[in-house]
Amino acid sequence: MRAMSKPLTILGIETSCDETAAAVLRYEDGCATLLSDVIRTQLAEHAPYLGVVPEIAARAHAELADLTVAAAMNASGLSYADLDGVAATAGPGLIGGVLVGLMTGKAIAQAAGKPFIPVNHLEGHALSPRLSQDCPFPYLLLLVSGGHCQFLDVRGLGDYRRLGSTIDDAVGEAFDKVAKLLSLGFPGGPAVEAMARSGNPQAHDFPRPLLSRPGLDMSFAGLKTAVARAAANAGTDVEKADICASFQAAICDVLAEKTGRALESFDAGTGDKRLVVAGGVASNKAIRAALETAAQAQDARLIAPPLRHCTDNAAMIALAGAEHLAAGLGDADGLVSGARPRWPLDEASAKADPVFGAGRRGAKA
Ligand code: KG4
Ligand code: ZN
Repeated sequence: MRAMSKPLTILGIETSCDETAAAVLRYEDGCATLLSDVIRTQLAEHAPYLGVVPEIAARAHAELADLTVAAAMNASGLSYADLDGVAATAGPGLIGGVLVGLMTGKAIAQAAGKPFIPVNHLEGHALSPRLSQDCPFPYLLLLVSGGHCQFLDVRGLGDYRRLGSTIDDAVGEAFDKVAKLLSLGFPGGPAVEAMARSGNPQAHDFPRPLLSRPGLDMSFAGLKTAVARAAANAGTDVEKADICASFQAAICDVLAEKTGRALESFDAGTGDKRLVVAGGVASNKAIRAALETAAQAQDARLIAPPLRHCTDNAAMIALAGAEHLAAGLGDADGLVSGARPRWPLDEASAKADPVFGAGRRGAKA
């Protein structure tokens, strides 16, 4: 049963990587309705470099942010006066882009006299299935994106506990690197998935790192090195397809095995067990199928956002803002929030155990 609440209309802004996005969302009684959802991708700008170039991204966001927000407001048929709040990604992400979205959001909120809600991009992904489906707390979240790969116990809004994570590369990063090694273009994930469709998943016996080790931590750097060795001898499309299929199979095996383990010990309270997969890699059909099988084996239901809301978007940022505001967590303090290149969802675990992705700028995940 959803709680009754005053309807809230929120503008969300997302600029943390290579998508400039804005969305207007109405949130009422725990249900979200999108009034507009604009995503302007910068793929063409980054494609020649086979990866996201932070300087190019920051400049593109600066050029596109106002136009994208205007497009979202126009499509919603509303004016700034009709909003109850403005939410923007405040991190983690590429700092230049995050600053553009954050400043744009703060300026609109201040000019319109509305509350500003700084949103953690990862929380946006974590809540993204709630945009279009009934997905009550608690649930087990597998967050798989270009920068992150972790299991989180989502107990409630703002209550996230890290259960395990990659100790080196993120899954999306591994897909992007494999695509680069095989000259498949950018973005790597969809290119590798497409190529894998015609390949033989048993052609290469790539390593499944940490598969047999207890716990939920994962590692993908060794797999990438093994792919690099095989890629050095791959010239034809058939050979490349076999590498992609074998690589994807190794990723599926690791994610499915660890997910099964995570579900086994997951405390679902009195309700059903739910497994949510979110982030850009969640759009991979082979990975979804492997997770579906793992979920069924544990009597759990797999919930995945539609493809449009797996990759970066502003609808999930607007939703996170709305949920915070509805819970009384968004207030005037938002205007003094800073941009954070690193911002773990479970800050306590990240501080206590910073081995996972710790860097010069602090704990990553
Ligand atoms: O969530 P996202 O849009 O941005 C981040 O927050 O990182 O995820 C982007 C990542 C990229 O690494 C991209 O290659 C990967 O998601 N990705 C995929 C697929 N579509 C996107 N990886 C595997 N298969 C896909 N179909
Ligand atoms: Zn993302």
